[in-house]
Amino acid sequence: GAAGAGGLVAGAAGGAVGASLADGDGSGSGAGSLSLASVGASAVPFHGAQQAGITTPAQARTVLVAYDLEPGADRAKAAALMRRWSDTAARLARGERPDADGQVGLDAGPSSLTVTFAFGATLFDKLGLAGRRPEGLQPLPPFPGDELDASRSDGDLLVQVCTDDALVGFHAVRTLQRLARGTAKVRWQMTGFARSPGATAKPMTHRNLMGQVDGTNNPKPEAPDFAAKIFVGDAGAAGGAAWLRGGSYVVMRRIRMLLDDWDGLDLAAQERVIGRRKDTGAPVTGGEETTPADFGARAANGSLAVAENAHIRVSAPEFNRGATMLRRGYSYHDGFRPDGSPDAGLLFLAWQADPRDGFVPVQQKLARGDALSPFVRHEASGLYVAPPGCPEGGYVGQALLD
Ligand code: HEM
Repeated sequence: GAAGAGGLVAGAAGGAVGASLADGDGSGSGAGSLSLASVGASAVPFHGAQQAGITTPAQARTVLVAYDLEPGADRAKAAALMRRWSDTAARLARGERPDADGQVGLDAGPSSLTVTFAFGATLFDKLGLAGRRPEGLQPLPPFPGDELDASRSDGDLLVQVCTDDALVGFHAVRTLQRLARGTAKVRWQMTGFARSPGATAKPMTHRNLMGQVDGTNNPKPEAPDFAAKIFVGDAGAAGGAAWLRGGSYVVMRRIRMLLDDWDGLDLAAQERVIGRRKDTGAPVTGGEETTPADFGARAANGSLAVAENAHIRVSAPEFNRGATMLRRGYSYHDGFRPDGSPDAGLLFLAWQADPRDGFVPVQQKLARGDALSPFVRHEASGLYVAPPGCPEGGYVGQALLD
């Protein structure tokens, strides 16, 4: 799954890219005397009860960077890093440039930049905080079919940079990396993309690289139980600790798509795999994109219209004791493999209040019985907890690290 509906739509700012870059909307924040086009001028506040980049509509680009602490980096050094990172991320999100900045930061506005910080289980151990490691941060179990590359998995810290402009994204990544010197070093980095704002005539749910409308049945932020399902609450089994309330667990899976094999299926077979039409994203049982699937419906020959192993039947909350996650993934395309097939797929990112009631049970079922499984390979994996957002003057993770 990837980012999409439920308020997570591309192009919310309107048709700027597709229409005309020259026509700014005049809001021009942080741009000196020139007014920026609307994409550049859009800003997402860094500070708040929750971190930005979770319910924020998916921007056009992401860079995921996992860090490991340098040997000997202690709690005070980690705290100082999180303060430097938070201060700088807040300034970049407003469109300001950090001091002594290079040229790459010039010209563009914040372009909806968000920077989201999360902690891996190993961070707690290395900082002598094993006793405060949240319950939900146990290592993910192995799943059937996993082909995981340890060097591109896990990590003490995860930084998710999202923006509508690739250069703005590079600048943020580079700036944060410089600030980490002496405290943390990059473990792995991955780059992903989605639709650019304005690329479609109206805001739409994203398409993934298999061509499917992806994100339709994400939980909706306006739903009454949304916060309880996605953010750590007061009493949740994985929560409890005050420093974590308003935080969220994120599962990262690098999922390569076997696109040559996928292309070998005809359209009807591809639609059976998911249980939805490719053109509109509507369930195969009829209606529009947002029409609920009729899971009881049968075809003329008596078989289930949404097949027993269709991806949406295997993964839907109603067949997983309510297990819910907010999918906000990005596509990737990193060239070609030795056999000539594309090294492309989905940087799956799923946010939830507790992975044991979200990703884990659903993936356990998908890995065994999903019609999509023959066409995908899980190649990297990580589980991290994003602390709540911080107020101005504070930093992300302060209640844990101070
Ligand atoms: C739904 C694609 C992996 C969980 C969907 C949909 C598509 C899709 C096209 C239907 C539209 C929508 O509601 O978003 C994919 C692809 C994957 C993948 C291409 C891998 C490359 C996963 C994984 C999980 C997952 C690993 C979780 C472990 C879900 C859930 C839904 C969904 C919960 C919504 C089901 C419903 O309530 O209708 N996915 N998905 N997906 N997917 Fe995936």
